[in-house]
Amino acid sequence: MRAIFLAAIAVTLVVTVGLGAVIFLPIGQKVQPNNLSGDVNRGAYLARASGCIACHTDFAKNGNPLAGGVKFATSFGDLYSPNITTNKEYGIGNWSIENFDMAVRQGISPEGEAYYPAFTYEFYRNFTDQDIADLWAAFQTVAAVSNPSKDHEMPFPFNQRWGLKLWRVAFLTNPKTQSDPNKSEVWNRGRLLAEGATHCAACHTPRNLAGARKTKDRHFNGNESLPGGGKAPAIDINSLKKNNWTIENLAYALETGITPNGDSFGDSMGKHVLYSTSFLTPKDQIAIATYLLEEN
Ligand code: HEC
Ligand code: HEC
Repeated sequence: MRAIFLAAIAVTLVVTVGLGAVIFLPIGQKVQPNNLSGDVNRGAYLARASGCIACHTDFAKNGNPLAGGVKFATSFGDLYSPNITTNKEYGIGNWSIENFDMAVRQGISPEGEAYYPAFTYEFYRNFTDQDIADLWAAFQTVAAVSNPSKDHEMPFPFNQRWGLKLWRVAFLTNPKTQSDPNKSEVWNRGRLLAEGATHCAACHTPRNLAGARKTKDRHFNGNESLPGGGKAPAIDINSLKKNNWTIENLAYALETGITPNGDSFGDSMGKHVLYSTSFLTPKDQIAIATYLLEEN
């Protein structure tokens, strides 16, 4: 009896200490102070390209820019994008640029908690210090809105943010944005945008049961079950070519939403074009198309 009792205590201890180690495990790297001077226009451009405005503005309800409230129905529960205006109480008006950097490049809150990957920070990990300074400068120009952020509706255990720490260890990867010296400047610019800021893979790469992208062998192979129920077709080079995409008509579609057969993109792609890629310069639209369609 006594042995069983002691064993039970031992197991409880191990589980508690183990769990505690995870719960209190510090994550991320310390952020270096950023004293660069930011360019508001460049920051606003990057915020468009990256979808910050698309995801954090409730266009359907005529919401104020960046005041949040957009619902993301994931298979783990419903998330709402928070208010990230300059409001001190409800937005990020009290944050430092270092808090902002930590959130955007590392997906970690000022309290040291992990964000859900529905916030596409995985794609922003290779943003430069200058990118962060530019974004920050642009965010300072956003009007403060006093809407409280909506609470997420995640059932147990997915409402336990410490679980995301385990997720990060298992699945967090860096985007493949590094330039390739054997490729053209246009191709490399396209890679930086497509693999990074414009996060094409967030919707066009299938995910595993833990909600992580199958980056190794299924990159851009399409996703049959997007949050909210949509489907994104494959956009790997072979699929694109088979469906008559060319650099020209893809760049045109990223600008206008009109596809080669005269249809227009529906669903979340329509929104991605409307609120994000249509704001890119023609040069950047061509760069993304070149990266996706030029033979390696
Ligand atoms: C695909 C949708 C999406 C995109 C794109 C997106 N976000 Fe978010 N963002 C979210 C969601 C959802 C959350 C809530 C995450 C959580 O609670 O764990 C969030 C959280 C945040 C937070 C934390 C706010 C807080 O109160 O703690 C910041 C800051 C933020 N996003 C900034 C940005 C910036 C800057 C960009 C563009 C570079 C961006 N987001 C792009 C969906 C998005
Ligand atoms: C928020 C999710 C989302 C993001 C981000 C996204 N897409 Fe899409 N994409 C979709 C969906 C959904 C469709 C299907 C649209 C339809 O059925 O009309 C689609 C369709 C497409 C198609 C048509 C493919 C075909 O042969 O029918 C192309 C090309 C495409 N996307 C390219 C891109 C590129 C390039 C990016 C990054 C710049 C991107 N997408 C980012 C969701 C997304």
